[in-house]
Amino acid sequence: MKILVTGGAGYIGSHACKALAAAGMEPVVYDNLSRGNRWAVKWGPLEVGDIGDEKRLRAVLEQHQPAAVIHFAAFAYVGESVEDPNLYYQNNVCGSAALLRTITQWKPIPVVFSSTCATYGVPDQVPIPENHPQRPINPYGFTKLVVEHILADADHAYGLRSVSLRYFNAAGGDPENEIGEAHDPETHLIPLVLAAARDGTAVTVFGDDYDTKDGTCVRDYIHVADLADAHVRALKYLLAGGATTAMNLANAHGYSVKEVIETAERVCGAPIKVKIAPRRPGDPAALIGSADRARELLGWVPQRGALDVQLTDAWNWMRKNTANQLVTEHGYQLMNTILRIGAWPKAANSARQVVNHQIHYRPLNRHLRLRSRQGQCTFKNASW
Ligand SMILES: NC(=O)c1ccc[n+]([C@@H]2O[C@H](COP(=O)([O-])OP(=O)(O)OC[C@H]3O[C@@H](n4cnc5c(N)ncnc54)[C@H](O)[C@@H]3O)[C@@H](O)[C@H]2O)c1
Repeated sequence: MKILVTGGAGYIGSHACKALAAAGMEPVVYDNLSRGNRWAVKWGPLEVGDIGDEKRLRAVLEQHQPAAVIHFAAFAYVGESVEDPNLYYQNNVCGSAALLRTITQWKPIPVVFSSTCATYGVPDQVPIPENHPQRPINPYGFTKLVVEHILADADHAYGLRSVSLRYFNAAGGDPENEIGEAHDPETHLIPLVLAAARDGTAVTVFGDDYDTKDGTCVRDYIHVADLADAHVRALKYLLAGGATTAMNLANAHGYSVKEVIETAERVCGAPIKVKIAPRRPGDPAALIGSADRARELLGWVPQRGALDVQLTDAWNWMRKNTANQLVTEHGYQLMNTILRIGAWPKAANSARQVVNHQIHYRPLNRHLRLRSRQGQCTFKNASW
């Protein structure tokens, strides 16, 4: 049975594809690779396309005849959504509306949707139950809430059943270390803390005067493999005729930023420098989710909730990723552009050699640094 996975080249989507394959289903990834990685698509075909491209999407649906859709594709950075809300309304709302319109016009197959705890805003109580009022405080959370409403209306009008999964903070990597998190730029706390341990740089803590046990923000970290498992369960629930619903994916337990840093120091065996910065607007003190509904309806019980397990899996992936110099799609395209426009002719040969191997790139201001197993080269004053 084929399942269409939008955003399946991304962090959580790729782990869900692995879980789908393990459950005997074939994931067909539909991704425009704007933020995902080609190398993360390993368990089925990759169809490059945008969720807003109805013609392309229709052709992919006709070709693969999926039994259901898991819809991960979105932009997912709160800060970016505040700085550039147009981007988020266009991609997350208009894109999802186009996707859901295409699906309902084709066949109203069930949809599992990646929603978020950001739809709740500042909670009145923790752990947050699903019937807590949804009052998002940033455009990102609002875009996800709009899609939850579109899905509810689509059920009413067209009989399209769905499960909206409201994740808390995704963390960790594949326990078998085949895939993991690779964002560029990275904004999530855990990879930033691990990179600080690896590179000896400082990690910034935004606010240490919150009303929490140690003054830093508390978050409910949920292992990406547990998230992946919940998607397979939600899919089976819908394929068995389950009704439209929404549920939290959380551990019902929070860890503070300080606890994350201290645990990372133990896992990585290295001290981590900390820089205290002022609070960021819109960061609630504590976000912890109740996972009762997912347990009751899906029989879902997270297996990798302990922070040291999540950090160990993420650390193993980071070490492998650094060693193998995996390149992100953005880096790959950047290098191809550099070569196509013929910039730095003297460097072109070595750059091409680098591209042929797997590269790691790091744009530093206007400098582009490339590292491969063959060595390192830096292009100065790059303009792109
Ligand atoms: N990471 C978290 O902690 C978290 C928490 C709550 C909810 N979510 C949601 O889970 C989903 C996946 O998150 P992630 O962390 O894996 O993000 P990600 O950026 O790693 O993956 C998103 C994928 O969607 C693709 N994509 C984006 N816009 C697209 C479009 N218009 N057409 C086709 N493909 C497109 C990207 O290329 C990328 O591969 C998102 O919807 C996000 O909002 C994530």
